[in-house]
Parts: sequence; structure tokens; C-alpha cells
Amino acid sequence: MKYSLEEVVNHLKTQGFVFPGSEIYGGLANAWDFGPLGIEIIRKLKNLWWKFFVTKSKYNVGLDSAILMNNNVWKASGHLGNFSDPLLDCKKCQTRMRADKLIEEKYPNINCGGWDNKQLTDFINNEQIACPHCGAHDFTDIRQFQLMFQTNQGVLQDEKSIVYLRPETAQGIFVNFKNIQRSLRKKLPFGVGQIGKSFRNEITPGNFIFRTREFEQMELEFFYDPADQTDWFSYWVQQVKIFLTTIGLKSENYVLREHDPKELAHYAKRTIDIEYKFSFGQGELWGIADRGDFDLKSHSDYSHQNLSYLNPETNEKIIPHVIEPSVGVGRLLLALLADSYEVEKIGENDSRVVLKLSPLLTPYQIAVIPLSKQLNEQAYQLYETLLNDFDCTYDETGNIGKRYRRQDAIGTPYCITYDFDSLTDNAVTIRDRDTMEQIRLAISELPAYLKEHLK
Ligand code: GAP
Repeated sequence: MKYSLEEVVNHLKTQGFVFPGSEIYGGLANAWDFGPLGIEIIRKLKNLWWKFFVTKSKYNVGLDSAILMNNNVWKASGHLGNFSDPLLDCKKCQTRMRADKLIEEKYPNINCGGWDNKQLTDFINNEQIACPHCGAHDFTDIRQFQLMFQTNQGVLQDEKSIVYLRPETAQGIFVNFKNIQRSLRKKLPFGVGQIGKSFRNEITPGNFIFRTREFEQMELEFFYDPADQTDWFSYWVQQVKIFLTTIGLKSENYVLREHDPKELAHYAKRTIDIEYKFSFGQGELWGIADRGDFDLKSHSDYSHQNLSYLNPETNEKIIPHVIEPSVGVGRLLLALLADSYEVEKIGENDSRVVLKLSPLLTPYQIAVIPLSKQLNEQAYQLYETLLNDFDCTYDETGNIGKRYRRQDAIGTPYCITYDFDSLTDNAVTIRDRDTMEQIRLAISELPAYLKEHLK
């Protein structure tokens, strides 16, 4: 990411991609609303993910499970026991922070994943790490902070009515494993994909939409027989890379990082993160985890339901193993926008902002532009016709140069200009966003040309 996060965020706010949440009331920390242009990209991104990982996959099916679940789900998944962060307070300035982040920010080469509270405390004391806000070295003891949001279900607000907002969509899939396998008569291997909101009371949210407390995930849980010799882990890492190429993320801007065994989550036997090189540092974009049989086994134990699978060939009962590719929609959107944002010098004293997003994802595929006010009616008619087959916008305000810049800035791949010659030759000018080259084409040939070039 060549440009600062601040520059990209300013652009996205002014152009209508993302707005601060509840802005007229002074906002709500780390809450963001996706504006008209942002939501178009998100819908396309989710559709592409669904098509790739669910509809067009020969193995997978989809699910949309509830956000609120029985509390035993979170006991079985380990979230009620393990899903917490190590927190400490600076006694001098009262700033609350994560102990692991305090260390990692001072020593970027250290990864504290898997350290217990004693290791964290000893390191902070031995190295005399100071509070980044006031410089004092005077901290409280570390205590664990529960990351799940809690609310009450029903009219009574007591211990028994407590429910949690799901911190991941994955558990909805695990508890439905038997339902899906039986009702669709699925044989291993098969996967279940889900897109939905998750909630975490993150202690250090930030970097715009990189880490928020309310976010959307796209998760696949892929179930297979552990006796199966196929390397499904590598298969899904490869599939994720193919998907990233399909949506146009530049491969030179991300790396694959294998987790050190000490930093693995409580459910994982192995994890590879695809980390994107954001301007604020390299950060997890997409995690691919080998969850083994942790979830189905644990849900079998807690629910006393048999979640095993009967192999029809061997008549053997097994607990399937799981590979999980999981990504946040907002985080992927941020990577895509950072990847495609460019400020280009054009001519001596001129420059343009251009979003070189894949045409599969841009809010609009085409902008129809009348060269003069006198041509508004004809151009608008063309816009209405093209709207039947393409995602179009119509722009009649400002000089033509400004209108091209406006469309470049929001990533529209093609501008179609209706001019005075169009009245007689029934042709228009098509301008390419990336090359800025223009060609003349008969209106009758437009749909075929655009369909071919927007693929
Ligand atoms: N089911 C496994 C799971 O949830 P995770 O690594 O905690 O694993 C998976 O999250 C992905 O969800 C991350 O790679 C990231 O893209 C996204 N994600 C997690 N926490 C997030 C947050 N607070 N804000 C935005 N995205 C988040």
C-alpha cells in the first residue's frame, strides 16, 4: 500500500464509499457505515465469494444461521473459556491496553502469541517497557478480558437471560453439521459456507475498517475424512489464492505466514495467514486453519448428540476433520481499495485519482456522459437502455474533464460520451479508465463490446 491510510480514507469518505457511524451525533468509536458506493462493492464481493466457494464448488453448500445461539455453543467452542485478551492499565494515566500489543509494538520482531500472563509480565518488567501514552512504567496486573458482546434475551435481565452475539459465524455451521449432512445426503468431503455479521468487543480496534467490533465474515468449514490422503489444507490455501487473483488483488502485496505452534488458536492444529502489506503494517487478511476434529468432538461432548459420520463404504463411524478459510468482508474491502488506489500524474501540472479496481467489483461498470446540455435527452435515453444490462450511472454536471476524473476516482471502467456526431452517426466515444484511450463505436455494437471487456 503506497499511500497513507489517512489519504485513502479521506478519499473513500468524500466519494461516498464509507461514512463514520452515527456521525451527526459525534460518531461511535470504530463504527463505520458503508455508503452507496461501498455497499455496491461489498455486495459484488460477497456474491463472487459465494459463487466461488459455494454455488460453483462441486463440494460445498451454503447456510445462514442465527446470530444468537444457545450459550452451550460458546462453552463447547471454547469462547466462554478462552476467548479473552490480556489487559493491563497504566496506573499513572489510566490508559488500558493489551499486554501482548504493548510488547509487539515496541519490539516488532517479537510475536507474543501463546505467551501466558506470567511471561508477558516478566518481559514487560525485565525490559522496563513504558506506557506509550505517558512514559511511566507502572502497570496493574494483567487480567483476561472477555471479548464476546453480551445481551439479555426476553423481559428479565438476569443471569439466566444472558445471551452472546456470535464472535464468528463458524459455530453456526458446526451445530448444523448433522442437519446438513442428513437432509442433503452429503458424503465426505463437503463444505459449508456462510456470510454473516460477527461481533467482538475488541480492545484495540482501529486502522479504519481493519479491526472493528461489528464486522462481517465469509467462512467455509470443509469437512473431510482424516483417512483421506488428499492435502485439503494446501488445496484450500490454493483456492483462496485463486480467488484473490480473480478479484484482482496484487499478489506482490501479500505474503503467506505459517503460525508458530505457540501462537495457534485453541482449536487449531495448523494455520496459515495471508497477510496484506497495509501502509500501517503487515496484517492478517485471510486465515486458513486446520481445526482437526476439535469442534465436532466438542459439540458432541457438550450436546450429547452423535455428530459422527458413517462412512458408507467402510461402515466405520468417524468424526470428520475441518479446514477453515475465513476472511472479514471489511478487511478484504480495505485491502482491495488500498491495492487499487492510485494518484497518477497526467501532463505537466495535472494529476488524477484513479481506483483501478477489477470491473467485477466497481460500483458502476459504465458512466453515460452527454457532451453538452443540448444532448441530455438522447444521452439519458442511452443510459436507460444500457441500465437493462449493465450497472450504469449518468453524469451531466461539470465540464467533461471533471466528469471523467469523477468516474476515475470511483473506479468506473468505461465512460461513454454522447456528442453531436452521435445524432447523425449513431456512434459514441468509449473512454477506458486505465489507459484513458478513447475509441469510437456504433451504439448497436456497445453491448457486445462492453460484455466482452467487463468480463
Ligand atoms: N472462525 C475463525 C475466525 O474467526 P479469526 O482469525 O478470528 O478466525 C477470521 O477471524 C477473519 O475474520 C480474519 O482473518 C479477519 O479477516 C476477520 N476479522 C477477525 N476479527 C476482525 C475484526 N475485529 N474486524 C474486522 N475483521 C475481523
